[in-house]
Amino acid sequence: MPNPSLLILAGDGIGPEVMAEVKRIIDWFGDKRDLTFDVSEDLVGGCAYDAHGVPLADATMAKAQEVDAVLLGAVGGPQYDNLDFSLKPERGLLRLRKEMDLFANLRPAQCFDALADFSSLKKDVVAGLDIMIVRELTSGVYFGEPRGIHTEDNMRVGINTQRYTEAEIERVARAAFDLARKRSNKVCSMEKANVMESGILWRDVVIEVHQADYADVELSHMYADNGAMQLVRAPKQFDVILTDNLFGDILSDCAAMLTGSLGMLPSASLGLPMANGRPKAMYEPVHGSAPDIAGQGKANPIACILSFAMALRYSFDEGAEADRLEAAIEKVLADGARTGDLMGPDGGTPLSTTQMGDVIIAALNASL
Ligand code: IPM
Ligand code: MG
Repeated sequence: MPNPSLLILAGDGIGPEVMAEVKRIIDWFGDKRDLTFDVSEDLVGGCAYDAHGVPLADATMAKAQEVDAVLLGAVGGPQYDNLDFSLKPERGLLRLRKEMDLFANLRPAQCFDALADFSSLKKDVVAGLDIMIVRELTSGVYFGEPRGIHTEDNMRVGINTQRYTEAEIERVARAAFDLARKRSNKVCSMEKANVMESGILWRDVVIEVHQADYADVELSHMYADNGAMQLVRAPKQFDVILTDNLFGDILSDCAAMLTGSLGMLPSASLGLPMANGRPKAMYEPVHGSAPDIAGQGKANPIACILSFAMALRYSFDEGAEADRLEAAIEKVLADGARTGDLMGPDGGTPLSTTQMGDVIIAALNASL
């Protein structure tokens, strides 16, 4: 069997800094666990635009289609804000999601005990929180046609279209139900069936899939606005939240902040199985490129490292090694390791990005 292959697209801003720590972790698994990956690297986002004039070159897209998993850092930066819409760094990311057909975006929001004080909510509301948002990622208003800005009667009009087919709803619903069975067996589906036809269809299809194949899973429904409110009121009522592309974008930022820092949260974007049985997959932190702190060694690499843990679990069937990596992170946090984002104004001297990588590797060594 050839080594599994990884394509690293570190991207812009803090992307390369946090990805540097992931590369050290990948090497550690090669050295110490006999888990060797064939790693290649390429450009996405603003750096790809600088090099090639597009946020994702065709050759990079082709590589992404061939590897077992893509690891992405972050894209974007203020210097690209005025580019034509089609050339913006985000378009590179959206192209990867769309062309790889990564329809199921898994965004866990887990509150580490050591960080429960960090949440903007009261500790008892978030301590022990462990929810998973399953966001549809390749359709809905992000991609629906018609779209654009045109002029009608001398007035500019902006249009986007929320569009979902039954098949698109069904496949992401199955992903959510399958995942729930490995967790606490509960799915809450969120839409706006009170206002949107696509929401009515969403709810109908989720109910049909549930009745046909997942009746053992507890299913509930919420309007997405109420869902947002419930997420900050009593987040522990949820296990898996299933929702569409745009609501999922918003709800996952909201859920992320419950855990104390956006710098902690990983994500997996999964598509259909490839010929080798592995799903098409891309792993990326939920946080962005954070241009304000880029290049200063301040960024928290944990979200990106946890994204690699998700790759171990979902692409490479190495659940025990993913557990090992997650436990190492839990350990260093419990021991007080903190990057700047995890620190109050008078919290002492924060660890640098590399120092956080160092202590995680030390904890991995200690786990052997
Ligand atoms: C996310 C981001 C992206 C999105 C942007 C960068 C295009 O906010 O992954 O949540 O809107 O999906
Ligand atoms: Mg977002």
